[in-house]
Amino acid sequence: MNQTSKPSQPINNPAPVMLVTGGAKRIGAAIVRAAHDQGYRVIVHCHHSKQEAIALADALNNARPDSAVVVPADLTVVDNSEVLHEFTQNIMQAFGQLDVLVHNASRFYPSPLGSINHAQWDELFLTNAKAPLLISQALYPYLRSQRGCIISLLDIHAHNKPFKNYAIYNMAKAAHRMMVQSLALDMAPDVRVNGVAPGVNILPETDSDQALDPQQQKSIIDTIPMQRIGNPAEIAHSVLYLAQASYVTGEIIAVDGGRSLTLAGGQA
Ligand SMILES: NC(=O)c1ccc[n+]([C@@H]2O[C@H](COP(=O)([O-])OP(=O)(O)OC[C@H]3O[C@@H](n4cnc5c(N)ncnc54)[C@H](OP(=O)(O)O)[C@@H]3O)[C@@H](O)[C@H]2O)c1
Repeated sequence: MNQTSKPSQPINNPAPVMLVTGGAKRIGAAIVRAAHDQGYRVIVHCHHSKQEAIALADALNNARPDSAVVVPADLTVVDNSEVLHEFTQNIMQAFGQLDVLVHNASRFYPSPLGSINHAQWDELFLTNAKAPLLISQALYPYLRSQRGCIISLLDIHAHNKPFKNYAIYNMAKAAHRMMVQSLALDMAPDVRVNGVAPGVNILPETDSDQALDPQQQKSIIDTIPMQRIGNPAEIAHSVLYLAQASYVTGEIIAVDGGRSLTLAGGQA
């Protein structure tokens, strides 16, 4: 067995279990697929994308029976302790254990000065900071018993290089970044906590209100030393590295083709 790429598990023990929030599509689905390829059993959390999540889990279960489960939930579950408890029970009933928790779910949209409102604040902070913290706390006892880990999807704009017109998103991801470092201390030595900071690894959907035209795409690529948009599999690769990195905690890996080296801040 290749120790850098396969989940470590005592002989005769069942395969480790990874939960990916927002795992039905895009980067989340790439993490789910890559983990499954490496032998993990996977819990695909989703909200609106239930059909996509079920199709993904069906494909994985066809490849390996009883290896994927879907758990739908709006992340507002964290706002009520009883509902959060129920969510936690659903997660733990899937396979009876949890080894890796990946915080991938997120909302991402601008909040230009003058238009900032409470609803944007609540949604962007819920998905990008509050839910990751409260779900981490709720699942900590189970992760601790497995000596597991948490991996957070952050952003190169969560630290020193704010994204222009995205003040709330930048602030929420910065809070999430500090969660990674804080929990790395608070959960040591039993649970490691790390982050992956994408640059531009998948563009917004072409039918979304965040879609970028070819000129905007070109101006982004011009800021990337690697001269291309990244891809979700490159994020998944780093997530799986961190899942195996037994002496790494509190670390944040930028997977951005070098973009954070060239950003003066404010570039879209
Ligand atoms: N795309 C990039 O290049 C890039 C760049 C920097 C950072 N990142 C970070 O990397 C991660 C993945 O990026 P992405 O672009 O693949 O993410 P995304 O498509 O914007 O969102 C991932 C999922 O989050 C889930 N979600 C949103 N609000 C939710 C809620 N209230 N309750 C439950 N689930 C909710 C959605 O699930 P449903 O579809 O099931 O509703 C969505 O599919 C994110 O944390 C993002 O901030 C990505």
